[in-house]
Amino acid sequence: MHEPEGWNLGVELGTLANEQFRADNEYIGGAGPRTRSPGALIAWDPIARQPRWQVDYDFSINGGTLSTAGNLVFQGGADGVFRAFAADDGELLWQSDLGVGIMAAPMTYEMDGVQYVSVLVGWGGSSGLLGPNYDGEYKPQGRLWTFRLDGGEIIPVRGQALPELTAIPFDNSPDVIALGADKYAGNCVLCHGQGGVSGGAIADLRYASQATYDSFMSIVRDGAYAAIGMQAQGHVLSDAEIDAVKNYLLSLRAGLMAQ
Ligand code: HEC
Repeated sequence: MHEPEGWNLGVELGTLANEQFRADNEYIGGAGPRTRSPGALIAWDPIARQPRWQVDYDFSINGGTLSTAGNLVFQGGADGVFRAFAADDGELLWQSDLGVGIMAAPMTYEMDGVQYVSVLVGWGGSSGLLGPNYDGEYKPQGRLWTFRLDGGEIIPVRGQALPELTAIPFDNSPDVIALGADKYAGNCVLCHGQGGVSGGAIADLRYASQATYDSFMSIVRDGAYAAIGMQAQGHVLSDAEIDAVKNYLLSLRAGLMAQ
C-alpha cells in the first residue's frame, strides 16, 4: 500500500509495534530480564572455521571492534561499558563505564610516542531509537572519549531523571486505543520507540507533561517543534487519528502508573 507523503518502507509497521515485544526489557524502574536479543563478541579463526573465543552479552547492538598489534581487542557495549580483551584468549583486561551506550568502533593513533584510543559514545540511529535502551540513561549527551595509558579518572556522561508521572484523564474506549496503537506504530514508532518505550534519545511520550499533552495537536499536526526535529504529521493523520494516538499514549502512561 502506498501512502502519499507518508512512510513507505514496504513493511507493515502497525503489526510490529502492536506486538509490543519490548515489554520485557523496559528500562523504566530498572531493567527487566534482557534475554530476548543477546549479543556476542566472537573471535573467529578463519582457518579452523570456528570461534577461538566468545564473550556473551545479554544485550545486542554493541559497538564495532578495534584490534591492536599489542594483543588487544577493544569494544564498546550497548550497556555503555568500554572493554579491552586479550586478543589471543578473550580475557577481559580492562573496562570503563562511559555511561551511555556505545555503537561506534574505537580507533587508535600515536602522537609523540604516546598511544591513544578514542571512542565515540552515543545512543540513537535506527536501532537505538526504535530498539531497547541497555544503558538505562534517558537523553544523555554523546561524547568523544580518548584514553592513554597514564590518563586520569573519567566522569561518565549520565542522562536525565525521568519526570514524576501524574495522572492525565483520557478516553479509554477499546476502538480509540486500538486506532491510536496502530497509528502510533505506523507514524511515530521509529523515533519514539516500540510500544511507547523510548530508546532514550528522543522523548518518551508516556512521560510527557500535561502542558505537552495540552499542545499535542499543535506539536503533532501543525509542527510546533519542527525546528527540533518533530515534523508536522497533519498531512498523513486526521485530527481524530492524532487524538487516538494521544489517548493510546496516555493509556500506556496509566499502565505505567498502575505498576
Ligand atoms: C523522525 C522522528 C520522529 C517521528 C516519526 C515522530 N517524532 Fe515526535 N519528536 C521527535 C523529536 C526529534 C522530538 C523533539 C525532541 C524530543 O522531544 O526529544 C519530538 C517530540 C515530540 C513531542 C514533544 C514531547 C515532549 O515531551 O516535549 C511529541 C508530543 C511528539 N513528538 C509526538 C509524536 C507523535 C504522536 C508522532 C507520531 C504521530 C511523532 N512524534 C513522530 C521525532 C519524531
